[in-house]
Amino acid sequence: DLTGIDVRAEIERLRKERNAVILAHYYQKPELQDLADFVGDSLELSRKAAETDADVIAFCGVKFMADTAKILSPDKIVVLPDLDAGCSLEDSCPPEKFKAFREAHPDHIALTYINCSTEVKALSDVIVTSSSAETILQQIPLDQKIIFGPDRHLGGYLSRKFNREMLLWPGVCIVHEAFSETELLKLRAQHPNAPIAAHPECPPHIVDHADYVGSTSGILQYAKTMPGDTLIVATEPHIIHQMQLAIPNKTFIGAPGADGNCNCNICPYMALNNLEKLYLALRDLTPRVEIEESLRLAAKKSLDRMLEMAS
Ligand code: 13P
Ligand code: SF4
Repeated sequence: DLTGIDVRAEIERLRKERNAVILAHYYQKPELQDLADFVGDSLELSRKAAETDADVIAFCGVKFMADTAKILSPDKIVVLPDLDAGCSLEDSCPPEKFKAFREAHPDHIALTYINCSTEVKALSDVIVTSSSAETILQQIPLDQKIIFGPDRHLGGYLSRKFNREMLLWPGVCIVHEAFSETELLKLRAQHPNAPIAAHPECPPHIVDHADYVGSTSGILQYAKTMPGDTLIVATEPHIIHQMQLAIPNKTFIGAPGADGNCNCNICPYMALNNLEKLYLALRDLTPRVEIEESLRLAAKKSLDRMLEMAS
């Protein structure tokens, strides 16, 4: 029972006492984004986690992101406010099935989206994020066969854009899968001059209507430079908080789901974290992310390749 406790003041006190850095993804609740030391996309958060000199990383994001922080910064204590903050893409790709898939295609390399388990990273050759996937794919020789997992929409988007066949793992993000083309077209009819920005985790019937396709950071950057004063945003709607902070005079509208509003596109995993759980994580230094050393080293290889190739 936290009645009577000033949770924000306690977080401030504990972050100094513990020498902790608070990292938050753009899909976190505004109050978590606001008190974070750094807010970013998956690649930027990985870089911050690798570089920090803090003793504790409090990761306001989902499990695969906190795992990545631990893989890259094994000497730090990494806490995740709610250990159940998973990801439908990670769930779609059990390591034993992925291993069998790889073994069935021995002449393919595995280019793997960071939204996966540490075990799947260890079975992969190169990890990508949505902001680094295009640069990395272009560095892979054209005659090299590729397995891309677990997001079939990001894989399909890359495949179409670069006219490059890839074997796609059939995973999806349940959040981006929930946008409705019919409702999006209705919304665009109401705002005929507003461009649409979409995350590549969206299915093709959404991405095909987009004026800009990119990672969360890419979409935020586009919002700063786009023509006009209204943007339709086809990704998890909590990113709109950063857009409003950065560009207060423009209007941002979350793309709708089948019910006509954007609330069904809130990521249920990201939403498990809150201020109270962050306070408890800093106070008790649990729930902690731990990874067995040989697994960590195997997963680090493919992540290090990403960090080298993305720069
Ligand atoms: P990025 O922030 O790297 O674009 O990733 C989006 C996402 O869905 C994270 O779960
Ligand atoms: Fe996973 Fe989608 Fe949630 Fe990102 S938004 S954590 S990809 S379920």
